[in-house]
Amino acid sequence: MEKTSLIRPSLLAADFLHLKREMDQIVRLPLGTVHFDVMDGCFVEEVSFGEPLYRTLRAAYGRKVDFDVHLMVKDYLRHVELFSGLGAKTITIHYEAVRNFRDVARLRKRHPELSLGLALSPETDVSRVLSLYDIFDRFLVMSVVPGRGGQAFLPASLEKIRRLDLFRRDNGLSYEIEVDGGVNLQTGRECFRAGADALVCGSAFFRAEDKAEFLRELLSGKEE
Ligand code: DX5
Ligand code: ZN
Repeated sequence: MEKTSLIRPSLLAADFLHLKREMDQIVRLPLGTVHFDVMDGCFVEEVSFGEPLYRTLRAAYGRKVDFDVHLMVKDYLRHVELFSGLGAKTITIHYEAVRNFRDVARLRKRHPELSLGLALSPETDVSRVLSLYDIFDRFLVMSVVPGRGGQAFLPASLEKIRRLDLFRRDNGLSYEIEVDGGVNLQTGRECFRAGADALVCGSAFFRAEDKAEFLRELLSGKEE
């Protein structure tokens, strides 16, 4: 099986006590991307992990997988500079954290090599972000309240995915639609059907006994 980046395991749901074992298992699977949640205790209440762990994992596994860095932080400009300086090529910031999109447009110009994403929390309407398509390579639909893994998928997210997909098709655009939160075999299939390109999957992935089989099944939803 060829490597896929359509499914991105979220490390937040990994067994931290055995993180090496979890990462070794991931890189043996045909997976090209791992999702890396950064929380600052300010944009969201929780604190997850950041620079030290990123450095460690990138040094150990950076030749085998890419890291999809999801910044749930208030100080997004500083964090984008920090992580891109550490070699991250795929970084997503939150719409709700942005104070001035002119700053983001400047950031975009400074880093043409970056795949830059914009995440929408559940309360954010899609109509607010559509006009920003020329700054971003990706829209990330948060299908749970950002901050914690293991929450139930919010069904209203499907309509957001459909609208992003429709706007993309109507305007001949090519941004990626990524979905994060509560993704399992059933909700994952619905997301793909609604027009999603890539799914972040935390609890359901790490809970699966047979991860290769779980991955195959989740991906089969893309082909339907
Ligand atoms: C939530 C994080 C997600 C989370 C997904 O704030 O951004 O990446 O780890 O976990 P599950 O799949 O368990 O909802
Ligand atoms: Zn995330």
